[in-house]
Order: sequence, then structure tokens, then C-alpha cells
Amino acid sequence: MAGRIPQAFIDELLERTDIVEVVRRRVSLKKAGSEYAACCPFHGEKTPSFYVSPQKQFYHCFGCGVHGTAIGFLMDYENLSFPEAVEQLAEQAGLEVPREHDDSPRQDATAPLYAALEAAADYFVRQLRETPRAVDYLKNRGIDGATARDFRLGWAPASGLLQALSDRFSPQQLVDAGLAARRDNGDLRERFRSRIMFPIRDRRGRITGFGGRLIDDGEPKYLNSPESTIFHKGQTVYGLHEARRAQTRLDHLVVVEGYMDVVALARSGYHRAVACMGTALGRSHFDVLFRQVGRLTLCFDGDAAGRRAASRALEQALPVIQGMREVRFLFLPEGDDPDSLVRREGLAAWERLLDQALPLSEALIRLLREEHATETAEGRTHFAHAAVRLIATARDPLFRELLCERVAEESHLPRERLEEQLQAAASADAGSARNATPASRDNAPPSRGPDMATRPPASAPSGSEPAGAGGRRSSSLWAALLARILQHPELDWDTPALRELAAASGEASGTLGRLLEALDEQPRPDTARLLERFRDHPRFERLLSLAGADLQDGKDEMTRQVALDAANQLLRRHCRERIRELTASGALDAEQRSELARLTSILQG
Ligand code: UTP
Ligand code: MN
Repeated sequence: MAGRIPQAFIDELLERTDIVEVVRRRVSLKKAGSEYAACCPFHGEKTPSFYVSPQKQFYHCFGCGVHGTAIGFLMDYENLSFPEAVEQLAEQAGLEVPREHDDSPRQDATAPLYAALEAAADYFVRQLRETPRAVDYLKNRGIDGATARDFRLGWAPASGLLQALSDRFSPQQLVDAGLAARRDNGDLRERFRSRIMFPIRDRRGRITGFGGRLIDDGEPKYLNSPESTIFHKGQTVYGLHEARRAQTRLDHLVVVEGYMDVVALARSGYHRAVACMGTALGRSHFDVLFRQVGRLTLCFDGDAAGRRAASRALEQALPVIQGMREVRFLFLPEGDDPDSLVRREGLAAWERLLDQALPLSEALIRLLREEHATETAEGRTHFAHAAVRLIATARDPLFRELLCERVAEESHLPRERLEEQLQAAASADAGSARNATPASRDNAPPSRGPDMATRPPASAPSGSEPAGAGGRRSSSLWAALLARILQHPELDWDTPALRELAAASGEASGTLGRLLEALDEQPRPDTARLLERFRDHPRFERLLSLAGADLQDGKDEMTRQVALDAANQLLRRHCRERIRELTASGALDAEQRSELARLTSILQG
């Protein structure tokens, strides 16, 4: 296997590459101010909302929300893996891609985990061939050999994997990869035993984990890999790699519940299905999915559990809908799942059903009506209140307005009254940085509106804050800060407050620390080169969207000021919390006393 591509080379490559040229070779661009605009190549549109910034070396579509660097553009547009995209850019720049040696000490610690999972998948595939009862199980469920190959389905025997991998991987590596667990006495135990194995692959096709299904009765029916440094259930969807590989222009995805649903749909010729694995569809899943497509259909069972899952998904979806993004809801007939449906009724019937999926606004009405009777005045009041609470979380003002209109119709309340309620709900939500005013009718479409998630909340009055609101406030302060550093790396970010904040504990501080480090190392940093250092970071998607957020700060001085204000608020909060911790812990040693003094002086400074 080729070694890792050194980060310094990625920096150099991006410095020699102009994203405008990379995009222009594939999409026709028009100059628009300091940027270039085009009709977005990733979703159908007639007026341009796709922008390429030569300063940031970054592209962003205000319609469907895709964004990224030149490398990301090639990956998405040409359906390439990261190394392939790098190879292609390097060829154009006349550079040779250097590789770090596999035994290089700088080698990524995750490499052996990927290798172990890969080797395990091979082993499981071989075992399947030799296990007639597993093959029969798949055959009985309608899965043919070609589909099993496409998804690399396998069989984990009762034991044997650890033996087979022991010459190449250490026990600790097998544990870290999630293939084995330690017993109390320290012995290794195989995690997957007597199960049909579904390898879970990331966008680039690397296996990050497995799901395994028992073929006899037993518990649990499905077992998944545990969270690991490379497997994050909250951000992984099963089948995405396979869907991307099956078609060049993927514009729509259907989210189903189970592994078998994805596989059975593919077997029937439907290659747009993905599943999240036994976890509820969350915000990060939407980020990952909307990075691929502008349109999603979410599929739910027709029973009570399905409705609950749909309500949860609706709550998660409202804040991420913007521009051309679309989410539809499909409620299946009770007792069916996509697997049983497509096998019984065929591909055409499945596609007809998909055509009938409800737009989000109608799903919202339907789910609320199932909870609140709308025949009585009281019922309609509850209905309206519940609706307003949901609508207040929608990010796109135009969308909020349309939802209000629809709820007004349904509850027989005047729309103006609902909009008043909506305003009240939004301003009561003090911790939120969201825009409280619904757009007026003649407002421009939301395509280039400010990105509310990155507007910092107003400074809080001193004194105590409710904990929940504080958490939300923190995350919008972090968003305000990180977005501005990412978008304006040329400004001076070498300040004591930022260094102090980067040294604090917590994930966001760690990210800030890495950003400051990267700025230190790059004499003329740009957004793209900063981002490319975070490609393996669990929050890469989040950083991409911060880099694409429309800040509307105006002048650079304003940008820096807003960011430093946010940093100061975060730092003060950190100091207060840490002081509280230290003073609560009783006797302090010398080091802790000097920390306390330093924190106190920051707060007073
Ligand atoms: P279902 O129980 O609906 O199973 O779980 P299914 O997909 O229809 O599977 P078959 O048809 O019985 O084989 C849906 C998904 O929930 C997760 C799995 O990801 C599964 O695909 N799940 C389910 C678990 O993680 N653990 C379980 O024990 C059950
Ligand atoms: Mn099923």
C-alpha cells in the first residue's frame, strides 16, 4: 500500500493550484465581484448560486450548501478518492506526489486500524464462500452473488478471525479496530461471532466498521462496531460509498432504516438508499448527506415507533434546511420495510411510492395532527403552539414564513398571530443566535442572507447564566470565532487571549489550537490550506460549513473585532468555570494557586 501523502506537500500543491482554474475547466464561470459564479454542478438550477472565491480558494453553493477546497471539488465532481484527486492536481501542477514510507514514524496511527478492518473483510468474504448455511440465508432473502460482492458481504464464524489476523496485527490493534474485546482476565474475545457481516465504508471506500446480523434467533439481532478513532456512528451512513459508486451524478438519496433495506433495494436496481445504523438521524448525518446531495427522502415505518423517529428527524432537519435543500418524508404501510416492499412489489412500485413522499411542511402538519386533535379550539391552540415551537428552529426565514402560512390554514388562526408567537418564541430563546424576525413578504430570497449560526450572540450581562443556554451560547460563540479565523487566515490571530483559549481543555479549544499552529507554519495561509489539515478531523464537515458561512462583517477590522469579542467571552467563561472547579476542590498546591491567580487576573483584565 502506498504511504501517506505528507501534509507539507498538500500545502505546496494547493499553493500552486488555483481553484478557479480547476472549476473553470469543468463548469462555465462568470466574474461576480471578487468571486466567480456559476450554476451549481451539484444540483439542478437555472440561476447561479455557486460561488468560487479566489482569495479563500474555496467554493460554496448557497443553493444546496455544498462547499470545499479544490481537492474537495475534484473528489465530488469527478467522484475521486482523496489520493486520486491529489494525484490529478499534482499532474496538472507538474509535481510528483511524494509518499511517506509505511514505517515512517510520522505515519498516521489509524493506518493499521484500516488495514485490520480490510483484512477482516477479506477473511469474512472467504468464510462466506465456505459456509453454505450463510449463503442459503442470503439467497433466501433474495440477495444474489453480484450484490453480495458489491457490498462485500461476509460471514463471521464462531471463531477464527483473531487467529487469521494474529500474524499481522497486535491484540491491541484488533481491539482498537473494534474487532475484538478484552475479557476481564485480559484474554481477547472476538466481537462478531456467527453473523452475516456488512462492512461499513466511508465516502472514500475505506472500511471503518462492521454491522453483523445473526441468522438464527437471538439477541442482539444486529451488532455494530463500537465507536473508535475511525468509526463514528453519528456521522456515518451505510451505503453512501456504494451509492456514489453506482452513479456519477448523485442528486437524491433515500434514508432507510436497515442494512438489509439498503442491500435489498440495490439488488432490485435501486442504488440511492443509505441507512444510519441503529442510531437516530442526527444533525451530523444531515451535514454528511447534504454534502452529497440537495434532496433527501427519509423513510419511516408506518407504526408508532416510525412516527416517533420521524418527529425526531423533523426536529433535526428544520435547522439545516436552506436554499435548495429539500427533505421529504415517506411513511411506509404498517408492517412493511423497504426490503419487504421492494421484494414483494418490485422496483416500479417502490419508485411510485417515493414519488408520493410528503414535503417536510406536510409531514410537520401530519405529525402534529396525530398528536393534537384539531376539532376543538383547545386542540387547535396546542397544535399551533407546538407548530410555532418547531418552526422557530427553522433557519431559512422564507421557509419559516411558508410554514407559518400552512399552519395558519390548518389551525384557522390568522397568520399574523402565528408570526407574533413565532417572534416571541424566538426572542424567548435567549441563548440562540437565530434571527428572531420572520422575513417580510417582499424580502429577497434567502440565498445570500447572513448565516445566523455564525452571528455571535449579544454579550451576556455578567452574573450567572442558565446552564443549557450557556452551552448553546458557547457553541455559537465558537462558531463565530472559528468561522472568522478560517475565512480570514491573513488577519493577525496571534493574540494572548486566543493562545490562552487554545490551551484550555475541550474539543473546540483543541481545534483552535490546531488552527493557530497551522497559521504559525504557513507564511501566507488561505482557507483551503487550513481546511485540508482537518480532513481526518471528526468535525471536518462542520469546519467546511463554517468556512462557507456568509459572515457579512463588512470590513476586515470588523471581522477581527467580532472574533476577538467572541474569544474574550469564551475565555472569561472558561476562567469562571475553572476558578469554580479549583475553589471547590479544597486545598490547592502551589501550581494550582498560581493558576488561580492567573485566571483571576485574566477575569479582571
Ligand atoms: P430492524 O430490526 O428494523 O431490522 O433494524 P431490519 O433492517 O429490518 O433487518 P432484518 O430485515 O430483520 O434483517 C433496523 C436497523 O437497526 C439497527 C441495524 O442497523 C438495523 O439494520 N439494529 C437493529 C441494531 O443496531 N441492533 C439491533 O439489535 C437491531
Ligand atoms: Mn427488515
